[in-house]
Amino acid sequence: MAMPEAARSSDSVPPLAIVTGASSGMGRSIALELARRGWATLLIARRTALLEALASELRASAPSAILTMDLCETGAIVDTVRGFLAANGLVPRALFNNAGFGFYGPFLEQPTDLHERLWRVNYLAAVEMTRAVLPGMLERRKGHVINTASMSTKVGPWGHAGYAASKAALVSVTQGLAAEHPARASGVHFSFVNPGIVRTSYFEASSFAPLWKRVAKRAIAPERVARAAVNLLERPRLQVCVPWYYRAIDAIDAVSPALAHRIVAAESRPLP
Ligand SMILES: NC(=O)c1ccc[n+]([C@@H]2O[C@H](COP(=O)([O-])OP(=O)(O)OC[C@H]3O[C@@H](n4cnc5c(N)ncnc54)[C@H](OP(=O)(O)O)[C@@H]3O)[C@@H](O)[C@H]2O)c1
Repeated sequence: MAMPEAARSSDSVPPLAIVTGASSGMGRSIALELARRGWATLLIARRTALLEALASELRASAPSAILTMDLCETGAIVDTVRGFLAANGLVPRALFNNAGFGFYGPFLEQPTDLHERLWRVNYLAAVEMTRAVLPGMLERRKGHVINTASMSTKVGPWGHAGYAASKAALVSVTQGLAAEHPARASGVHFSFVNPGIVRTSYFEASSFAPLWKRVAKRAIAPERVARAAVNLLERPRLQVCVPWYYRAIDAIDAVSPALAHRIVAAESRPLP
């Protein structure tokens, strides 16, 4: 789909952000928040109809285009994204690697192919999306890669073995990129966002039912995470936790890793 002229060329005004997982939940909210602040968007996910509906809504505020992709097919990402950007003369200023999914259940009920899909969508897809756009950002000395990680990366919770591992890898690669390309020298920022419990279709996967009973009362709206993620564009930071007070677990972990582990394990066990 073509992007209106205003978002083309390297001096694009408005600036362009790519948002993966934009068809629902936090990605959708991030795209809405970006458009509200005048950013053009390129929306990526599998469900074309939802992306199209969102893009038409966003166009009331700023240009928007869609690219339907299954991010599990990681081998195709770099060529597909670079091809689409080049064909439409689009130059991204920001990349939100937000697409992802989870599974809740004991390790022995998490087959290897589930671990592989979690790894592909939650980690490798973000790596490949970054590979697709980072060289251009470094060349222009302007850009920001913002990865949606998870509070589960702090201290591994019950039932999240594959999921938390994939998100912990995402945190680690973000830290590595930030170390390799300090923003002062490169002009490119790297951030990761750790949402806590967010009320989205993520929890509609049947495996999450026993956990949802426990955590529903703590769930926050996706708009809250979206605002925090988009705020990073104006005030870059390596890490942001939403809600911010979940960072208390870092302090507890620093003093007593065993206590942090006990708290997180107890809070994440299924309710009967
Ligand atoms: N909800 C929470 O409490 C929570 C907490 C911490 C972190 N997170 C993370 O936050 C991110 C957003 O999740 P959400 O809570 O907003 O859930 P969501 O509403 O289910 O959104 C997930 C998004 O990822 C996309 N996606 C999933 N698999 C994909 C694939 N193979 N290819 C392309 N796109 C794919 C989905 O689009 P399609 O289905 O259209 O492809 C959808 O747009 C995820 O990375 C999740 O792990 C969520």
